[in-house]
Amino acid sequence: MKMWSGRFRQPLDPDFERWQRSFDFDCRLLRYEIAASEAHAHALKDAEIISADELISIVQGLQQILQRASASPEFLQDEEAEDVHHFVEKQLAALIGDTGYKLHSGRSRNEQIATDLRLYVRAAIDELRNQLAELCAVFVDRAEKAGNTALPAYTHLQRAEPVLLAHWLLAYVEMFLRDADRLMDCRKRLNVCPLGSGAVAGATLRLDRTLMASQLGFNAPTSNSIDATSDRDFVVEFVSALSQLALHLSRWAEEMILFSTQEYGFISLPEAYSTGSSAMPQKKNPDLLELVRGKSGRVLGHVTALMVSIKGLPLAYNKDLQETQEPLFGSTDTVLQMLPLVTGWMKLVEFNYERMQSAADSGFMNAWAAATYLVKRGVPSRLAHERVGKAVQLCLERGCELRDLPLPELRSLSPAFGEDFYEALSLLSVLAMHDVKGGTAPGQVKQAMAMARKNIESLREEVHAHA
Ligand code: ARG
Repeated sequence: MKMWSGRFRQPLDPDFERWQRSFDFDCRLLRYEIAASEAHAHALKDAEIISADELISIVQGLQQILQRASASPEFLQDEEAEDVHHFVEKQLAALIGDTGYKLHSGRSRNEQIATDLRLYVRAAIDELRNQLAELCAVFVDRAEKAGNTALPAYTHLQRAEPVLLAHWLLAYVEMFLRDADRLMDCRKRLNVCPLGSGAVAGATLRLDRTLMASQLGFNAPTSNSIDATSDRDFVVEFVSALSQLALHLSRWAEEMILFSTQEYGFISLPEAYSTGSSAMPQKKNPDLLELVRGKSGRVLGHVTALMVSIKGLPLAYNKDLQETQEPLFGSTDTVLQMLPLVTGWMKLVEFNYERMQSAADSGFMNAWAAATYLVKRGVPSRLAHERVGKAVQLCLERGCELRDLPLPELRSLSPAFGEDFYEALSLLSVLAMHDVKGGTAPGQVKQAMAMARKNIESLREEVHAHA
């Protein structure tokens, strides 16, 4: 039986019928639909709409539906169910008879879908944060193993200054930890329960909303029935947070692709995550990285699709809102599938320490350190910059490095140059010079690493507290 057939005289156009259904995709909300239905059933019993026996039979029926669905996926192949709400009602009535039709007393699908989606997003956030903790832990492990290996840091994609490989890896940890934080922020706001909001004006029965909310692990019931049934800002917020995460992953992938080229030669691609060319026998391609970069585009597309679907909707529920589900599911799947693969890749990638180190130790990346040497000896910064610039110019003409210029020549550029200048140019001195919080001096990076580990630990604890 349909959920609304009474007032209709004509059957639906079969193409329209198929086209408007959402069960093909909202069937994945089944377990949330069941959990929310159980909470509603308890409230119905408390409101004396159903008896204690009826409650038991409804709850058992709901559990049986869940079991059947997990036992055989064909159970969910239902050409008749309009959506997951209709599916559950239909199956429940088939299992326990007309009592099954009592479950919908005093509620509307509008509050149900809003509740199911909140539960879905909440679970997705917990899973994503768990995955992010694993990813960050691998980055920190690799940072620790890298010791004092340096590589060039680039600005404008030109070699700028040497940094520790560990420092560079920890930069990504910062981004991913912020992404985890953004998700947590979203979780806090979404964790309120629409049940009892009815279709738009609030339930028609005196249901205990606080009890339903706490049964589902929500902090409180929502405050306004119109808002609760029609808003999807938590979906937009969540997919926006995913977009930011996808952006970080995409930039990382792009950088790794560059590092893997023969031109850079900083990393060697793990074979387990690469493919070859059907034509060119020598090739090993960065497939994982390219797909991470490519699939990030989907998430960015989905967030736009969501906002555009919602932007013109008057209050309250409109069926357009059904269109928010697929972008939500698509983005979630994309990122959930991607993160563990990135983690696996990160564990196996080989860093070419020697090549990084020698790149870090050439190409005048110590020029700023050289100017700082002069500044510390009282030369005004702008003039020091100018003098060292001249020295670089000399080297470029001769095809040598700053350390190859003899002292008298340096002195003719500035009398402030002394014998200890050469020591100041060494890679380790240059690194050590950036001795500020957040800088690349080895001592600072060590502290940053400890801090990152602590942050990952608190992230893990939070995730487990929610499990
Ligand atoms: N499948 C619908 C959706 O996802 C459920 C809510 C339907 N409500 C209604 N009044 N037709 O939005």
